[in-house]
Amino acid sequence: MTRRSIVTGCGRYLPKRIVTNEELAERVDTSDEWIQQRTGIRERRIAADDEKTSDLALNAAKEALISAGINAADVDMIVLATATPDETFPATATRVQAALGMTKGAAFDVQAVCTGFIYALNVADNFIRLGQADTVLVIGAETFSRILDWEDRTTCVLFGDGAGAIVLQAHEENDDLVPRGILSNHLHSDGRHHDCLYVDGGPSSTQTVGHLRMQGPEVFKHAVNNMASVLGEAMVANNITASDIDWLVPHQANKRILDGTARKLKLAPEKVVITVDRHANTSAASIPLALCEAVADGRVKERDIVVMEAMGGGFTWGASLIRW
Ligand code: COA
Repeated sequence: MTRRSIVTGCGRYLPKRIVTNEELAERVDTSDEWIQQRTGIRERRIAADDEKTSDLALNAAKEALISAGINAADVDMIVLATATPDETFPATATRVQAALGMTKGAAFDVQAVCTGFIYALNVADNFIRLGQADTVLVIGAETFSRILDWEDRTTCVLFGDGAGAIVLQAHEENDDLVPRGILSNHLHSDGRHHDCLYVDGGPSSTQTVGHLRMQGPEVFKHAVNNMASVLGEAMVANNITASDIDWLVPHQANKRILDGTARKLKLAPEKVVITVDRHANTSAASIPLALCEAVADGRVKERDIVVMEAMGGGFTWGASLIRW
């Protein structure tokens, strides 16, 4: 019998405030047409002034626990992916832990920017496989609106706020011919690309929070190549081809990147879960938000092959392949 991690619950939270492209065009020199054509984004959610990353995460986590049919007391660990923590320390995961009323277990953050959820999932999966945890809440939560330069039209139109969460639980099966759960994880980073995408602030450098800076076209070029190559890696590791994939749940940065990746892999576009039009890029929250939407509306069914993949600042990139 092999011990694997299966997803038993999903939850999402989006702030109430919708900001349309037209609204942004009143602030910076841009247009709905430019944003839609270059990115596929129509609107994004922005957190209220008193809403922190931990508040978004908590709402998503509560929904995930309900959908898994468990209580916070059943959770052994919280792994929260974010690049926009409430504070420099402690970890935002510990705020969520306290708000859920948990007094046992461990809670910590993982930072891999837009690839954060894949990294967090891999970390949680390893804890479960090793028997160090049975039930883990894996959360991706961000308030990127707080680190955007709202005068910079090349970046401020691209991002949004939100949170998604899943419950990951240990599962052992006798029939290992068609195993369920996370079948493989693939993580990469290449720190030489720092200047392509970074925040120009931080406690140890400027003692300020800073703003997101990006060389968009350079990131675009690497994104399609890295996403396609890590997907190829996941398919080879599992001895499958693109036609075996039921759902691709990619990090939602730009519709053109998603179309380009699907084309490169000859993957049918209708197999790609898309939320970027309504959420924009919510960094570590984008994959769990998209995944949980596809689960909630019944697209993802038991034993479907679901592949998640992301690319982000660092650069970091990675993929996880699950049989649901
Ligand atoms: N509205 C209107 N015009 C804009 C604009 C905006 N919001 N932002 C940039 N422009 C202008 C540029 O100034 C440039 O004008 P110029 O030709 O007069 O110099 C023109 O549009 C083209 O800019 P460019 O940056 O070459 O556009 P692009 O087609 O590469 O699209 C991005 C820009 C950012 C949408 C695209 O590069 C991208 O999506 N990159 C990847 C971003 C990403 O995924 N980041 C997160 C990774 S996790």
